[in-house]
Amino acid sequence: MTNTHVDPTWVQLSYLVAAVLFILALKSMSSPRTARTGVLLGAVGALLATVVLFFSGIELMNLALILIFVAVGSVIGLVAARRVKMTAMPQLVALFNGVGGGAAALIAVVEYLVVGSDDLLFLIFTVATVIIGSVAFSGSIVTYLKLQELMTTRPVVIPLGKWITILVAVATVVGGVWLIVDPQQWLLWALLGLGLLFGVLFVLPVGGADVPIVISLLNAMTGLAVAASGYVLGNVLLLIAGTLVGASGTLLTNLMAKAMGRPLTSTLFGAFSGTTAGGGGTGSDRPVRSSSANDVAIMLGFANKVILVPGYGLAVAQAQSTLRELADLLTEKGIEVDYAIHPVAGRMPGHMNVLLAEANVPYDQLKEMDEINPEFSATDVVLVVGANDVVNPAARTDKTAPIYGMPILDVDAAQQIVFLKRSMRPGFAGIENEILFDPKTTLLFGDAKDSLTKVVSALKNV
Ligand code: TAP
Repeated sequence: MTNTHVDPTWVQLSYLVAAVLFILALKSMSSPRTARTGVLLGAVGALLATVVLFFSGIELMNLALILIFVAVGSVIGLVAARRVKMTAMPQLVALFNGVGGGAAALIAVVEYLVVGSDDLLFLIFTVATVIIGSVAFSGSIVTYLKLQELMTTRPVVIPLGKWITILVAVATVVGGVWLIVDPQQWLLWALLGLGLLFGVLFVLPVGGADVPIVISLLNAMTGLAVAASGYVLGNVLLLIAGTLVGASGTLLTNLMAKAMGRPLTSTLFGAFSGTTAGGGGTGSDRPVRSSSANDVAIMLGFANKVILVPGYGLAVAQAQSTLRELADLLTEKGIEVDYAIHPVAGRMPGHMNVLLAEANVPYDQLKEMDEINPEFSATDVVLVVGANDVVNPAARTDKTAPIYGMPILDVDAAQQIVFLKRSMRPGFAGIENEILFDPKTTLLFGDAKDSLTKVVSALKNV
């Protein structure tokens, strides 16, 4: 490493403690029970690492400016994180992630311009940080714009896009190798520009429903950029923390792609071959059976076994506590109640678990897809609250559907199905759901929270 500064032992020990805290944080986040503690452990680790840096003896130029920006950044982060709605969390993660990648790229540029070195490894890691960091930055900004619906959520395919993307990728690799072999400043700036361009070209063709997977991938890339910048700066903790983010982001990306039943390559390059999952779509004007809250309450009240299927709409309506109230009421009446949790229900991993944990739903009532699927055929009523794609049988039968191949909750095996939704609009994948037109399906139109409140009060009189 080029950096000649050697941290005192107490600083190195503090970094070790921070690294252990990061690992414990990740471990704790693997269960809803301990996730809160995990977040806290991670935050303490990050705080420790930041504070220690100021006292580590390295020469800090522009200390006042650094402190001002730390304060500004902390306030923005705190306000954004406190204000963000649960449903807008993926956008926030995308934004924070992009900023991390951009920061890593800029640090590598500055380190090259100010310190510089002919050391081969330094150059390789500088190039890696600049490329990966800039791709993560611009890619994350586009994912943010898509999820926030500030631009279309549909795949954007530009003419000759595939070839332009390949050309930019090749130019980036060639530029990177050139810089390592024959270091020149202009090449570094060119690499930064190419990385930014590649990030945009890479994410534009990804359809709305696949964007969360891309966020996870970009997150892993930011981790790698930060790890590489750790080498450039000679900071072991950055190396460890970046590697942890890179590894966990890669695992998460794979898990999400698997849960959606599609290979990662089809998510990333699907638009070029026309198989990516888009957003949008309209409703259908075919007849459906709709009903009143009273009728739904009677149906539920006379059942022996009820399964509740929460989805994205439950999060939008913030109806988790009302759903729990309904479940408690049914249980009090001696009815068996379970929640069926699909791995990609909602808009982020574990979305439904977090939402229901907020309403203090006991964990043993939450059943994962594989566990609950055999139970639907013995269920009297399935209440689908703001879910759509995760119960759509098109995933089994329609080869042209963007969700084809995704394992779904087999709600169509139940005796009766009730959907709580506001309209006939489709789910995020933008495709019609045949179960809505099934004779054993009843629709209760309206905001999920309003509908559930009405069903709860009607049920009290059943
Ligand atoms: P969706 O298929 O998006 O369906 C949500 C339903 O909720 C819609 O039918 C909508 O219909 C209804 N809704 C919205 N707001 C509502 C409100 N206030 N009250 C009542 N209903 C409301 O959700 P899902 O079944 O949870 O599926 C998740 C989708 O996201 C899948 O396509 C999945 O692949 C994708 N995805 C998820 C993840 C993760 S990790 N969770 C990652 C990537 C992709 P109305 O508009 O008619 O109300």
